[in-house]
Amino acid sequence: MYKIAVDGPAGAGKSTISKMVAKEIGFIYVDTGAFFRTIALGCIKGNVDISNEEAVNEAIKTFDISFAYENGEQQVYLNKENVSSLIRTAEVSSAASVVSAYKAVRQKVNVSEYEISEKENVVMDGRDIGTTVFPDASVKIYLTASSYIRAVRRLRDYEKKGIKASIEEVEKEIIERDERDMHREISPLTRAEDAVFLDSSDLTVDEVVSKMVTIIKSKIEL
Ligand code: DC
Repeated sequence: MYKIAVDGPAGAGKSTISKMVAKEIGFIYVDTGAFFRTIALGCIKGNVDISNEEAVNEAIKTFDISFAYENGEQQVYLNKENVSSLIRTAEVSSAASVVSAYKAVRQKVNVSEYEISEKENVVMDGRDIGTTVFPDASVKIYLTASSYIRAVRRLRDYEKKGIKASIEEVEKEIIERDERDMHREISPLTRAEDAVFLDSSDLTVDEVVSKMVTIIKSKIEL
């Protein structure tokens, strides 16, 4: 099975791009951030203190996380409830960044990542896919953009959902998340040595998709 690893910071466009690329090459798109978000949501719902690693470790033993595809879209379930839209809030984003630093949380997510990759050709996005989860991935791409551009994109997503925020606020949130994701002890976000670097700041979505498909086709036979 082929594994395409797409890593990069929050708001670089990984999910939008990876989803389109996966469709174009006929692979399954796996959004691994959604698993961390689901764990974060479970903690919030259960009033678990997310700064307490022990408490989070205990709580996740009771979380049954599963996923499925509906009309080509990945859906995540927490104890059989579809939480796919509930995990897209700013509160869950920042809680996901906190709990994703814990070893037991990462191990739980790794199980889902390995399971799906054994059955399907995947385009998987995250922070540590090319470095830790699949160091043997067929293709590795590090997708990034400036923090300002990423904040502008996030703000647009928020506006579509009717969430009010300022650009300063959103950029600050993104920089804080980068700090945590890049400097945690386990599986920090770094560019794998053999990853192709792609900066999407000055490119349209279609341009990034086309560049990525070209990179993939240069590395594997589709
Ligand atoms: O990609 P995202 O914004 O949905 O990710 C939410 C958080 O989960 C992010 O701050 C870092 C964490 N994450 C991670 O540590 N490893 C991954 N493979 C994916 C996400």
